[in-house]
Amino acid sequence: MMRLLRLFPAETAHDLAVGVLSLLPAGSPRSDPQVLHTTLCGRDLRNPIGLAAGLDKDGRAIAGLARLGFGAIEIGSVTPRPQAGNPRPRLFRLPENGAVINRMGFNSAGHEAVLRRLARYRERSGRNGPLIGVNLGKNRDSTDAAADYALGIARFAGLADYLVVNISSPNTPGLRGLQAAEPLRALLERLAEARAAAEARPPLFLKLAPDLDRQERAAIAEIALASAVEGLVIGNTTLARPPELRGRHRAEAGGLSGKPLFAPSTAVLADFARLTAGRLALIGTGGVFSGAEAYAKLRAGASLVQIYTALIYEGPGLLRRIKSELARRLAEDGVTSVAEAVGRAREVSSTAVAAPY
Ligand SMILES: Cc1cc2nc3c(=O)[nH]c(=O)nc-3n(C[C@H](O)[C@H](O)[C@H](O)COP(=O)(O)O)c2cc1C
Repeated sequence: MMRLLRLFPAETAHDLAVGVLSLLPAGSPRSDPQVLHTTLCGRDLRNPIGLAAGLDKDGRAIAGLARLGFGAIEIGSVTPRPQAGNPRPRLFRLPENGAVINRMGFNSAGHEAVLRRLARYRERSGRNGPLIGVNLGKNRDSTDAAADYALGIARFAGLADYLVVNISSPNTPGLRGLQAAEPLRALLERLAEARAAAEARPPLFLKLAPDLDRQERAAIAEIALASAVEGLVIGNTTLARPPELRGRHRAEAGGLSGKPLFAPSTAVLADFARLTAGRLALIGTGGVFSGAEAYAKLRAGASLVQIYTALIYEGPGLLRRIKSELARRLAEDGVTSVAEAVGRAREVSSTAVAAPY
């Protein structure tokens, strides 16, 4: 199946895969070993492996994805109004590197359509399956980013298990600027108001770029700790182009994901774990292809590990392999729960992990 999909241009293959998943009827995945059961912000997870944002941007395949056995599924990014995103081609495989470059530019069906699909999923499946996070974006032509995110919080708070404010996509001009200290402080104040007025208060996460330098990370951690934010997603795709990239697409514009992102994103995750010292929940994403790499993200401080690019190369069977390898490694180390592994690398080595940027 994966070999077949690779015969198609990257985005066509993606659309086909989501189409197939959207046709799967609801159903329960096999249960996970007890050692993988864990929590995120006090919510139960059957396992710590989640689907990263961007695969099911429009919430078309939530039930099918839930069947695959993820602990959490993040839909979106979703923008308030529908928008087409950038012109195609905008998604490129770099198979020699296990990587992808994308410049989708928040193609989105818009809040209303996604809200309708999530509500339908909740009616049928309730809250017993994986956690469903909603990742919020802003419209490209919006002049008030905070208003777009606030609207997302107001609309999705009642249905989402957690919300993510994505200020780190490299494909929407100006978006990453919201990570600077003053714009971030102002944004978070607006979001706190939106949250206070919302019908429910699911945990709020900020999704950050892996390209932040030490000073930027320290400033963001301080601001986030003083805000209503309960967690950070580390992180989005990178603008960096490591020298090992190969193939004709290696210089395409956009965000790079997959294997080359593993080391830098894990180092940045470890640094945020040090800066926030257990006071914020961390979601680790970037280049995870194996149980060993998922374990490394947990040890660096992530309570939940998300995958995306690895699924493009390995298909949905990868999830089962990652979970069983992770369970085996935990057992080998005599670790009896995922929670016990979280942040262990920080405790073991008192020296901070060197961050690459
Ligand atoms: C095609 C594609 C689309 C993406 N779209 C989004 C998105 O809409 N919102 C978002 O927060 N992240 C998006 N991401 C980033 C992923 O959620 C993830 O942070 C990143 O790809 C690193 O994980 P990976 O190396 O396992 O893919 C996208 C990634 C890819 C490859």
